[in-house]
Amino acid sequence: MPDPRDKSKVAEPIDLGPGYRLAARGRQEAEDDRLALLEQIFDPASRHRRELVQPGWRCLEVGAGRGSMAVWLAERVGKSGHVMATDIDVTYLERMNLPNLEIRRHDILKDPLDVLGPSSFDLVCSRLMLFWLAGKQETAIQRMVECLRPGGWLVDEDGDWGTVSPVDPSHPYYARYEGAWQGGEWWAARGYDPTFGRKLPVLFEKCGLKNIRSEATAEIVRGGSLWAKWWQETLLAIRAWEQSEDRLTEAREEEYKVLTAPWSDPSLWFLNALLHACWGQRL
Ligand SMILES: C[S@@+](CC[C@H](N)C(=O)[O-])C[C@H]1O[C@@H](n2cnc3c(N)ncnc32)[C@H](O)[C@@H]1O
Repeated sequence: MPDPRDKSKVAEPIDLGPGYRLAARGRQEAEDDRLALLEQIFDPASRHRRELVQPGWRCLEVGAGRGSMAVWLAERVGKSGHVMATDIDVTYLERMNLPNLEIRRHDILKDPLDVLGPSSFDLVCSRLMLFWLAGKQETAIQRMVECLRPGGWLVDEDGDWGTVSPVDPSHPYYARYEGAWQGGEWWAARGYDPTFGRKLPVLFEKCGLKNIRSEATAEIVRGGSLWAKWWQETLLAIRAWEQSEDRLTEAREEEYKVLTAPWSDPSLWFLNALLHACWGQRL
């Protein structure tokens, strides 16, 4: 008879990590609008960062969201090329209908890579996804690298989301905002790394990539701007998740008020996220 108290036989609980908190379930229309704002803000620089893509290339975009960059890639590779866009939720991607754009529901952490095409892509890219896979980013990058053909490029853009802070200590909102934000530790309290983006080159190197280059950009933006609106919507989406999971304590509700109200006030200037872009090649 096996000893029921034998702890060595008890499977370790699977650590799912904090996971993705902006899932559209129950708020599809609001998430569609939030992702549309995101595309408006980030696409111009993202296109520039993918200019290495040539006609005829095979490209994989992981966590493609609402799909604007996948469509751009499909146009860039042309008829002789092919783009595969994956996501754990393909609600928005399924609206796309281009002959050289293939959509697949796929979790980069768990689902088999055979369905994507290991060692076959000239470009694998992702944007604003890895941050959410706290503690599992190296696994995700490793799996994306496995999809590259020798000579192919991995490109990722991700943020240091902890840097988002007002710049003027004399502004009436400043002290309360900083009290709640705590220099970005607000993220750490939720299991995320507020300085994740700057670690991309380290992770790329650990995953065997060569010719690594990384750059970072940030802006000072004001309340009421497009960026401010998107950030406000993003915080409110995280709040909605906490509410749906019964994690929205009174203290947290108060924090959300303190952190979202200033974004409507044009008199307040903020440093936005430090947005990192990292390139690496599989040799
Ligand atoms: C913030 S959105 C960014 C969407 C898109 N990359 C863009 O920048 O427009 C993050 C996306 O990653 C997807 N995602 C989250 N975890 C994922 C995973 N494990 N595998 C694939 N996609 C994932 C989400 O469903 C969401 O569409």
